[in-house]
Amino acid sequence: MSKLENIKGVIFDLDGVICFTDQYHFLAWKEIADKEGIEFNEAINERLRGVSRAESLEIILEKATREYSAEEKTALMEQKNNIYKEHLKDMLPTDLSKEVKDTLDELRARGLKLAIGSSSKNTEFILERIGLDGFFDKISDGKNIINSKPDPEVFLKAADMIELKPEECLVIEDAEAGIHAAVSGGFHNAGIGSASKYAKTENAIASFRDILELV
Ligand code: BG6
Ligand code: MG
Repeated sequence: MSKLENIKGVIFDLDGVICFTDQYHFLAWKEIADKEGIEFNEAINERLRGVSRAESLEIILEKATREYSAEEKTALMEQKNNIYKEHLKDMLPTDLSKEVKDTLDELRARGLKLAIGSSSKNTEFILERIGLDGFFDKISDGKNIINSKPDPEVFLKAADMIELKPEECLVIEDAEAGIHAAVSGGFHNAGIGSASKYAKTENAIASFRDILELV
């Protein structure tokens, strides 16, 4: 891995990059799917990575045996989020790994601007749970976008907030939708976890600390 030229900021996806909420998303959607008698498993859950709550529900409803009205969908999303937020209460600052915290501190010490670019509307709540509230320079999340990843909107807004051009930012992602969003927005990207294997991943990283070799 070699250093990228002229990187002035890093934009982090949240779920699956800074912290690990997959299990909680899975448990909450599973409870909803079971209640509705809809098949749901880990493979379907994998497709929810990086996509919005509403689009996640649409993916789950592909296995439903009847149509759902807009009102029913809204109610299901609310129920799912309530269950999910109950699980999030189990998250503690000790759930933030030392590697992630040390790497973030080192990036900050190097003078890079640091932002979040997440589809989640629970971003602020999660950051509070893991003790990172107030840490990032700016937060672009599910609350300030119309189009979810793979649309680049969340990253373009993050770059705008930290007053950098896309090509001056490195996006860190674990989802294919997020890597596509970074590429179509003109950002450099590094893929971690599942995203280390995607065709459009520019820099596959095995570990969070590897970001330090890229900037
Ligand atoms: C993304 C997750 O970060 O946020 C997705 O990877 C999730 O799985 C999306 O659907 C929206 O999250 P929330 O917290 O707004 O329901
Ligand atoms: Mg993610």
